[in-house]
Amino acid sequence: MKIRTSRYEIKGKSVPRELSGLRIALFSDTHNKYYGPGGELIVSHLEAEQPDIVIFAGDGVKKSARNTDPVKGTENAAELFTAVASRFPLYYVNGNHERRWQKRSRNLPYYSGYVRQLKAAGVHYLRNETAAAAGGRLRITGLDLPPKYYKMRRGRLPHLASFIGRSSEDAFDLLIAHTPAYFPDYAAWGADLTLSGHIHGGIIRLPFVGGLVSPHRRFFPKYDYGLYELDGHSMIVSSGAGDHKPRLTFNNPYEIVIITLIHEEAGDGA
Ligand SMILES: [Fe+2]
Repeated sequence: MKIRTSRYEIKGKSVPRELSGLRIALFSDTHNKYYGPGGELIVSHLEAEQPDIVIFAGDGVKKSARNTDPVKGTENAAELFTAVASRFPLYYVNGNHERRWQKRSRNLPYYSGYVRQLKAAGVHYLRNETAAAAGGRLRITGLDLPPKYYKMRRGRLPHLASFIGRSSEDAFDLLIAHTPAYFPDYAAWGADLTLSGHIHGGIIRLPFVGGLVSPHRRFFPKYDYGLYELDGHSMIVSSGAGDHKPRLTFNNPYEIVIITLIHEEAGDGA
């Protein structure tokens, strides 16, 4: 199994001077995959990159409508995230699979146990919460949407603040949102940078065409992979480091994303 490193630079005035040079690692959609003892494959990748912080953008477990077993599909996840958190500050958000796990009441003690275990290991488990980092100049907010928002085809999310409160005026707002579908609303909320996953590169990727099928069978999802910009707000969508169904890996490898923030005054030509 190969994991590729994808690199991006986010430059501009919105990056405070104090955050210039900050390196963020993003991975997502591991879906209970086994990466060797202690999450070796992911951990060694991160150790080679030495990011300042690590973001996990959701779907750490693998749950289908048919998988009602409270444990099946979650056995490897805690080991991976515990190992990552022992080395790096790790910020975790739920995806639709964590939400599906919570759907049955008999699963709830297992889900709660998972969250407890991760928090005890030092994971910043952000369920519609914000954490301050880098001396308060960086605000990291984790969006945890109810399941219905993963099914909407052309939905909007104008009431985002009812989930996560307001963005800040002076800090750099990093939003972790499992689904990239609501990028215009994330930007309007004030997210300087949104980090997402969920689409798995579109499951089937063809050169020049992009993703063909999203997890919810939408053809040509608008935000399927890579960097998007809107009025000075950015979003990076990762193709994920795992899968929940057989994946055609042609032109769509597993990836870890490394993002460098760079302060730049507009028009200084630097
Ligand atoms: Fe997902």
